[in-house]
Order: sequence, then structure tokens, then C-alpha cells
Amino acid sequence: MSGSCISFAVYLFFFINLILRTLASVVSVGDFNKDFYITWAPDHLNTSTDGRERSLRLDQQSGSAFASNAMFLFGQIDMQIKLIPGHSAGTVVAYYLTSAQPNRDELDFEFLGNVSGQPYILQTNVYADGFGNREERMYLWFDPTADFHTYSVLWNLHQIVFMVDWVPIRVYRNHADKGVPYPRWQPMGLKASLWNGDSWATRGGQDKVDWTKGPFIASFRNYKIDACVWRGNPRFCRGASTSNWWNKPAYRTLTPRQSRLLRWARKYHLIYDYCADKQRFKNNMPKECTFPKF
Ligand SMILES: *[C@@H]1O[C@H](CO)[C@@H](O)[C@H](O)[C@H]1NC(C)=O
Ligand SMILES: *[C@@H]1O[C@H](CO)[C@@H](O)[C@H](O)[C@H]1NC(C)=O
Repeated sequence: MSGSCISFAVYLFFFINLILRTLASVVSVGDFNKDFYITWAPDHLNTSTDGRERSLRLDQQSGSAFASNAMFLFGQIDMQIKLIPGHSAGTVVAYYLTSAQPNRDELDFEFLGNVSGQPYILQTNVYADGFGNREERMYLWFDPTADFHTYSVLWNLHQIVFMVDWVPIRVYRNHADKGVPYPRWQPMGLKASLWNGDSWATRGGQDKVDWTKGPFIASFRNYKIDACVWRGNPRFCRGASTSNWWNKPAYRTLTPRQSRLLRWARKYHLIYDYCADKQRFKNNMPKECTFPKF
């Protein structure tokens, strides 16, 4: 091979690499006006002038919602959320990743409001291939209405980790090889909403929304999306290339420190685990519940 041929090959190699990299992963920090669109009631939603903070409002007329412009397949998403202060019974703030229908995949954070002075519940759920019924519930170890806290999901081929201020609270491992559905084919969009869920949300629907205490406002800010942006080309996102950091061996399981934090969070704050609900599932316990969770 001649010299110019070699340098051309080298050039091509780096060029292709660069394209693969820029196509695969994105770090997006911050501007709601740029990365999201309003899906419900623009007049019930406001964004700070710099685009870095957005609030949703619920009143008797309407709730509100927004969604990401892009879809993602694997990565990590962080969002800071401040929940509704004071009386929030019956309200639900949802922050989730969701795919197209049918056979929906979905990873949910749902914040269930409460009467004044009583604790919020954080409910998480995992849908895979159209089926959910994997609820877990916990109380938080801080007042989520007093300030912003960071709620994150790490999603790769090995595990889905739900985190609160970087404390893992839930892990859903990939047991697809044993027949357990795992979200791994479909890209998901990021959504957030505030709505009236008083038929079920607070004490099983006993505490209704008290409209005289409204309007109810929840705020979002400083999100970070470090994920593979879906551009219709499965190779970039579905592959296991470690140029996407979440595919590195270090992210296949929790670190020892993360495991300790997870055990702590679950020991002291978990109040419901579908895998422990024998009454609900009788002899049909979901298959993933028969494997060690972490
Ligand atoms: C939106 O308006 C509400 C009510 O006036 C206010 O509490 C909130 O801070 C505002 N949010 C943003 C992001 O400007
Ligand atoms: C609301 O407060 C009651 C009483 O402390 C508690 O039992 C319940 O779990 C709390 N949260 C929700 C969402 O119902």
C-alpha cells in the first residue's frame, strides 16, 4: 500500500469512528424549550426565561405534561424535581420513560401526594413487552417538597437502576435469557406530567384532591440526558460498544457501595414490593421474583 493510501485509510477510520460516536451518544444538559415539547395544556405550564426550570400546574380545569423530542435506547437520565408543597392528596406527578404502543416498555417514577404533613409515596414500575404490574413503593428519607432532588434511571443491557440522589432504590436485572421480559429493543421517550389520580393515589383513593388548596405546582430543572439517541438505526444503540459508557463492565452490576445503599434504602424505606405480594399473585409469582434481585 502506498503512503497516501495508508493515511487515507487511517483518516477514514478516525472519521467513521467520530461519526459513530456522535451518532450514538448525547449529553444534553438543560434547556426545556430545546429538548421537550408540551403535550398537554400549555396554559398550565411555565418555563423560566433561561429554559432551565419548568413547572406543571394542576387545577380544576386541567393538569399538564411535556415530553422529549427525541427517543432514547440505553443511557442515563437525571431530573431534579420539587414536589407539591403542603396539601397534595390525590395528585400524581409522573416522570417516566415510555416506548410506542403496543407491547409498551416503560420505566416509571410516580409521586403520590398526600394530605398536609403526611408523607409522599414514590411508586416505581417497570413495563416490559406490554406488561407492568411490577409496582414498588417507598417513603423518601427527606421532604421532597422542600427542595429539588435528583431522580435518575440508568438503563443498559444488564440492569435498570432507579436512583434518588444517587442512592439506588430499585434494580431490575436482565433475565431475558430465562424468559423474563426486559426492555431492550424499543427506544423510549422521556415524559413528565401532573394529573388528578384521586381514584387511587392517596390511601387507596380515600383522600381526594381538595381544590380549595390548589393550584398544585410541581417543578423540574437541571435535567441531564446522557443516552443513545434513537435515529432509526438500531446498530448504534442496541450494540454493546463500550464507547457508550453505560456498556462498560463497571455498570453491569452495582458497586459494593451502591449495593449497601440499596439495601439501606429498601430496609428502612420500602413499604410495598410486588415480589412480596403473595396474596396478589397467589401461585403465579412473576418469574423475575424467583431470582435474586441484586
Ligand atoms: C411558574 O409559576 C408558578 C406560579 O406563579 C411559580 O411558583 C413557579 O416558580 C413558576 N415556574 C417557573 C419555572 O418559572
Ligand atoms: C399518606 O399518609 C398516610 C398516613 O400517614 C399514609 O398511610 C400513606 O401511605 C401516605 N401516602 C399516600 C400516598 O397515601
